Amino acid sequence: MGNGNTVAVWDLPTRLFHWLLAGLFAFSWFSAENGLMDWHRISGETLVGLLAFRLVWGFVGGSTARFASFVASPGKALAYLRGGGTAAAGHNPLGAWSVIALLLLIAVQVGTGLFSVDTDGLESGPLSYLVSFEAGRKAAGVHHLAFNLTLLLVILHVAAILFYRVVKRRNLVTPMITGRDGELPPGTPGLIAAPISRFAIVAALAAILAWYVAKGLTF
Ligand code: HEM
Repeated sequence: MGNGNTVAVWDLPTRLFHWLLAGLFAFSWFSAENGLMDWHRISGETLVGLLAFRLVWGFVGGSTARFASFVASPGKALAYLRGGGTAAAGHNPLGAWSVIALLLLIAVQVGTGLFSVDTDGLESGPLSYLVSFEAGRKAAGVHHLAFNLTLLLVILHVAAILFYRVVKRRNLVTPMITGRDGELPPGTPGLIAAPISRFAIVAALAAILAWYVAKGLTF
């Protein structure tokens, strides 16, 4: 239940990142399943930019997006699991580890996709020309494995959010849409946002990198 006070939790760049990531993950899956490989490549190359953006935003973005603010020691995560810790805006110490695992796995998936080739060598990632056919096939194997593991983590991710909703009566989804949380205790310290100009610069650099990679490391 809301208490009338809303605390800023997620900045716009982090929310945009989240829903674009979820959308592109689903679209990459759909396009691969349906043989739409041109679209699959474009989706993966866009994900390169998105992940590069999130990596940098984890150092220079709004306070709750920064890795330093949410990557907690396993001890802290265990203490949280046992019911310790105070309410705070941002990822909880346990959720933080699943966020890191998700981001790392998606990075492996996207990274190996860039080097992958299919059995007849007809479909290939933009950087596959840098490696042998055998290495490209190995990359494709890891690409498939990473997809299965990512899918498992996504299922756990959505299950954890449902668990919060049903058992703990906490709505985590609305804050990921609106950026604000009405269920935190009044006075909880909220997000310290980063300037929009920084968002524009980091997003532009990430887009240039994605373009450069998509063109096979040329412009
Ligand atoms: C209907 C589907 C989804 C819902 C409702 C959802 C909801 C959420 C929510 C509420 C959070 C914030 C958790 C917190 O309070 O700490 C979050 C974070 C996150 N989610 Fe999802 N999610 C969905 C799908 C996905 C998918 C498909 C992916 C990846 C492919 C994903 C990756 C992430 C990541 C990486 C974060 C951390 C955000 C960051 O700090 O950048 N989510 N999600």
